[in-house]
Amino acid sequence: MARMVMMGLCVVVTCMVVAAPYAEAVFSCARVAASLRPCLPYLTNGGGDVPPGCCTGILALNASATTTVARQATCNCVQSSISGINFGLAAGLPGMCGVTGNVLANISLNTDCSLLG
Ligand SMILES: *[C@@H]1O[C@H](CO)[C@@H](O)[C@H](O)[C@H]1NC(C)=O
Ligand SMILES: *[C@@H]1O[C@H](CO)[C@@H](O)[C@H](O)[C@H]1NC(C)=O
Repeated sequence: MARMVMMGLCVVVTCMVVAAPYAEAVFSCARVAASLRPCLPYLTNGGGDVPPGCCTGILALNASATTTVARQATCNCVQSSISGINFGLAAGLPGMCGVTGNVLANISLNTDCSLLG
């Protein structure tokens, strides 16, 4: 019983943390992370099938990263807030979703995000 309450509490807190940035800016790191979330099993467990919902997120990311500022922010976000990503797989993912020239393809852990055009 106590465990159920704790779990409920955690869900509420998580929602608040995730939802807060949405209101502040069209572009947000929380949104980038949310777009990539369905892809994480693929990106962190070494490939396999691209999970359902993943390409939808990649398309959303592609649609939002249309300016230099947004691409640099996406880069910073991917590097800083999502751990355990295999960047080799990440680079190939947009192509697997039919998106070419996507910013994800240019990001690795060593990328200097400020150099992205
Ligand atoms: C990805 O974004 C680019 C630049 O906005 C756009 O030209 C392209 O059509 C998008 N790709 C897809 C598959 O939506
Ligand atoms: C990715 O890098 C290539 C080569 O540096 C560049 O031509 C291309 O414009 C970059 N694409 C994006 C989306 O930043």
